[in-house]
Amino acid sequence: MKEQLEKIKQEALAALGAAKESVDLEALRVKYLGKKGELTAVLKQMGKLSAEERPVIGQLANEVRERLTAEIETQKKKLEEAKLEARLEAEALDVTIPGKKTALGHQHPMYIALEEIKDIFVGMGFTVLDGPEVELAYYNFDRLNAEEGHPSRDWSDTFYFDKDSRVMLRSQTSPMQVHAMETMELPIRIVAPGRVYRKDEVDATHSPMFHQVEGMVIDKNITMADLKGTLNTVVEQLYGKGTKTRFRPHHFPFTEPSCEMDVQCHKCGGVGCPTCKGEGWIELLGAGMIHPKVLEMSGIDPEVYSGWAFGMGLERTAMRRFKIADLRLIFENDVRFLEQF
Ligand code: PHE
Repeated sequence: MKEQLEKIKQEALAALGAAKESVDLEALRVKYLGKKGELTAVLKQMGKLSAEERPVIGQLANEVRERLTAEIETQKKKLEEAKLEARLEAEALDVTIPGKKTALGHQHPMYIALEEIKDIFVGMGFTVLDGPEVELAYYNFDRLNAEEGHPSRDWSDTFYFDKDSRVMLRSQTSPMQVHAMETMELPIRIVAPGRVYRKDEVDATHSPMFHQVEGMVIDKNITMADLKGTLNTVVEQLYGKGTKTRFRPHHFPFTEPSCEMDVQCHKCGGVGCPTCKGEGWIELLGAGMIHPKVLEMSGIDPEVYSGWAFGMGLERTAMRRFKIADLRLIFENDVRFLEQF
């Protein structure tokens, strides 16, 4: 029996040493040490032994059991460590590899100019409004005193959606004046930037889509002096202290009187150069005192309230602000151009 025990021990140790998975270890434990295992089978024959032999074999059997139990534990630990090692290796993360660079963009020059304009007006207590680009001719024309037959309503200038010329892409931001009068409480101070559309051929100063910023003030005792004072302040903030402006009479159906405001050319200081086409002045915006009929149509009593409004071309303002010579650069979105601002 001694040899039998020795043989079991050797066999079991060899098998345990060769085990690759912890499930194999468990199977070996059952095979050798389990209730129906080989060691147990040997011990069951102890009864046949003599009284002298029994304690010797008993002790030996216990030693084998202890040795195998210990070996199973050791092997189990080894396998677990190897497994962890393999996992760590597979999941290795090299923190020294340089990261991927995220290219950070910035605002388009025209929107930089728009932000400046908005900041100036918000600083003076104006509210910024947003409105529809698909507009009713009723708001774009009728409510602005440009009745049926007015030349600005012509099909050759305007993008209409229907045969009856009722729905259109707005040709100016001025319908925002009417939306403000309809929805806001008096007094009103608003600016409304956005896209406008006209059937123009693309060239260095024209595009069928461009941006305007509309501005409007309605309150008691508002006069042309308020219009001039406000716009002069805005121009000085945009183009620097002491920038000269000039107001010329003009005509718009929704303002009376109407004017256009020019800024002295930043290039030549008013002498005349290619930038201002020899004029010394550059046109910046259209403006005027809101026509009493326009106020009346929106339910505002022109005997009590008065107001002024302006419409400024945003591309032109940005071009002047950043000394951009060609309007097309603003819309082409060539990064080599955009990166300069
Ligand atoms: N809407 C006019 C245009 O597009 C500009 C304007 C706005 C004029 C407000 C007067 C008052 O030319």
